[in-house]
Amino acid sequence: MDNRAIGIFDSGAGGLTALRYIREIMPSEDIVYFGDTINVPYGEKSRDDVVRCAYNNIEFLKSKNVKVILAACGTVSSQLKYIKSEIPVLGIIDPVCKKSAMTTKNRKIAVLATSATIKSGIYKKTCSSILPELEIYEQSCPKLATLIESGHISSNDRELTNVLSEYLQKINCLDVDTIIMGCTHYPIVENAIKDLLVNKNITLLDAGKEAAAALKKFIFENNIQCNNTKKSENVKYFISGKTAMFAEVASGFLGYNIDDLIFTEK
Ligand code: DGL
Repeated sequence: MDNRAIGIFDSGAGGLTALRYIREIMPSEDIVYFGDTINVPYGEKSRDDVVRCAYNNIEFLKSKNVKVILAACGTVSSQLKYIKSEIPVLGIIDPVCKKSAMTTKNRKIAVLATSATIKSGIYKKTCSSILPELEIYEQSCPKLATLIESGHISSNDRELTNVLSEYLQKINCLDVDTIIMGCTHYPIVENAIKDLLVNKNITLLDAGKEAAAALKKFIFENNIQCNNTKKSENVKYFISGKTAMFAEVASGFLGYNIDDLIFTEK
């Protein structure tokens, strides 16, 4: 048993897509969430800069005395092999790749992710190592996380739908039956993505959701679950940049207000 909190970080609001499921499946666990909003977007940064940001985030969460950290960010997860920490740090890529291999019937999968993640080739490598017959098409979406972070999350938002149409154009011509939303920001606009897909039978996979399930498994296997007779203090939210937009995007997505958001100097 370990009553310390779970730490989660992302460049901004994207990690909330994992947090939502973590709260659902481990309601007694306390959570410290950190959104590095002063440095968003990560997806257009170099590997060195992404790794440097990740280390800062890990240090911050360590100072909050967490027991395990979820890098709820595809871009950081794609560079996880360069990140060492004495506190376990889990990523989001393996769980959703496993799920994609179990989901696809025709073995054709598309991945939507940031430029840095696509450049790393990590989704292709991981999926192929699970099931070598998979055909994987990777689409980078350079503007998408920034748009979401600045509040363009409604399915009717013209800027959002224009950008999404561009990124989905090729996928709409392919015969894929499964799409991995490989950046944690993207499930925030899942409805807009669905609206623009020609084939309505395509399954969209949420990397944050699969990572939440894998995190639960890790916590129980290592016997570091909280004592669930304790009362949960729930979630503390920290961000590094003073942006009112985080709270707006978060409440739009989570369906409740984050009243006690704390700005922090890292
Ligand atoms: N949500 C992150 C990811 O999953 C980062 C997006 C960004 O900051 O570019 O890749």
